[in-house]
Amino acid sequence: MSSIAAVGESYQRFNPRAYLQNNYMPPRADFSSEDCVVPWKLRCLAEAFATGDIHGRTLLDVGTGPTVYQLLSACDHFEEIIATDYLEVNRDVLRRWVQGEPDAFDWSPYIKHVCSIEGKGEQWKEKEQKLRGKLRQILPIDVHQPEPLGSPLGHLADALISTFCLEAVSPDRPSFERALRNVTSLLKPGGHFLLIGALEESFYLAGEAKLSVVPVREADVKEALAKSGYQIHDFRSYVMPPSLKIGVDDVSGVFFAHAQRTPVA
Ligand SMILES: C[S@@+](CC[C@H](N)C(=O)[O-])C[C@H]1O[C@@H](n2cnc3c(N)ncnc32)[C@H](O)[C@@H]1O
Repeated sequence: MSSIAAVGESYQRFNPRAYLQNNYMPPRADFSSEDCVVPWKLRCLAEAFATGDIHGRTLLDVGTGPTVYQLLSACDHFEEIIATDYLEVNRDVLRRWVQGEPDAFDWSPYIKHVCSIEGKGEQWKEKEQKLRGKLRQILPIDVHQPEPLGSPLGHLADALISTFCLEAVSPDRPSFERALRNVTSLLKPGGHFLLIGALEESFYLAGEAKLSVVPVREADVKEALAKSGYQIHDFRSYVMPPSLKIGVDDVSGVFFAHAQRTPVA
């Protein structure tokens, strides 16, 4: 069984470019079909924010990685968005996108798609600028620490997002549950959590790195959320079709949960 230290070690070989290529380019990012995994994730997020229930001053994204797709529908609803990652290489990829560096990953097909499904008539360039403007902090994080950001933010986040992080950095279910508890300490009571992750996955590739993942089922995720004091408002699952099983992981599906931390009585 691998330990948290071994997981941390394996991430030192994580290659952001290869990870983006494997997961955020065709065939997984095929915007012509709503049945494809990327449009499915974007719709889950757009519909959650369209409820109007999730808003406030600060949104914290846990384990942002080299990606920003998970923040596109969020950016209308918060004054600031804080991105976080364990690896400096990923924080650097994010900073380069925020600064509009020419070699940054091209998220424009994602931004255009989200503008289209939100149906508010927003121009994609406007949304791109808005997200860049709101992403003011890109911080180091370690979800295995009781204080994941090292020092407190000064205030609790109004909402959390985390996509494909907790199960991908935990060697077993107890550490997955502890990591969830640790990040919950960053969220204000009554705050919302949008959690997306892999179902029944044991590994994924990111260049030279082969990362171990703790396989979780829907029931495990629901149980972990309940144990951390969340009420689940929405839970959806996506079954990975054979055409998207492309040898870069052994994922069987994807879950989406919209949960709310129990308010203080
Ligand atoms: C599978 S990637 C997910 C990236 C992105 N959120 C997405 O949706 O594709 C897992 C991320 O967790 C980060 N990570 C690794 N160890 C971590 C830790 N101990 N605490 C927080 N994040 C960690 C990795 O650097 C990587 O960016």
